[in-house]
Amino acid sequence: MTATKLVIGNWKMNGSTAQVRAFGELVRRGWPACEAALCVPHPLLSAAQTVFGATPLRWGAQDCSADDDGAFTGDVSAGMLREFGARYVILGHSERRAVHGETDGQIAAKVQRAVAAGLTPVVCIGETAEERDGEQTAAVLRRQLLQLVRTLGSDMASIVVAYEPVWAIGSGDTAAPGIIDHTHGFIAATLAFHVGLSAGTVRILYGGSVNSRNAGAILSCKTVAGVLVGGAALNPAEFTEICKAAARCSAEETSEAA
Ligand code: 13P
Repeated sequence: MTATKLVIGNWKMNGSTAQVRAFGELVRRGWPACEAALCVPHPLLSAAQTVFGATPLRWGAQDCSADDDGAFTGDVSAGMLREFGARYVILGHSERRAVHGETDGQIAAKVQRAVAAGLTPVVCIGETAEERDGEQTAAVLRRQLLQLVRTLGSDMASIVVAYEPVWAIGSGDTAAPGIIDHTHGFIAATLAFHVGLSAGTVRILYGGSVNSRNAGAILSCKTVAGVLVGGAALNPAEFTEICKAAARCSAEETSEAA
């Protein structure tokens, strides 16, 4: 498992140029030793590039097209995101699956295009409350992962997976560290079995009601390579605290490994 924890903020359809600048101010005053990025709405990418360009904070987007160009009104290609310096793109978020009806196949095609354009896709998978209650979690995760494996093959090594149980998103109902650890172990084992990727090759993040109070306990799980943060990523002080927790846990894992 790579020792540097990754913290990705998902601003969803929130934020403004002023908020990008506020984060820039904060980062310039000093930043914890962790990898961190904010995935902003498309109109804020230019501001993110200008403001974060000379800081350790990276930036990204929340969706991209499965095509390079053409008659796709309203869509944005992975290549366009690269032009604005984006490093990451969140794909397959449960809100896009639910609100825009995105299928596993469409998501895998977007992921493939993002990898080809040199972006790191942060691919969200996770079960709904009904699926959890029906003991379908493993089957749902396997289905979502195997579509990616079929489409991407060895390019799976280039993606980040985010386990986001749908019931934990925006609910304050964070999955317990033991559940997260168990589920991340299952995801790693599935990738090992089907793609031959050893544990740690694909970073597996946890997302769902992460905040400054629970980040330390979640990030100290060895199977957790980082967190995907929604609401708390809009608050500079909260986001900084989560990044500090990530830096602490990274340092602990590095010293244990030495
Ligand atoms: P919250 O952190 O607000 O629960 O959102 C999680 C999420 O959807 C991140 O992608």
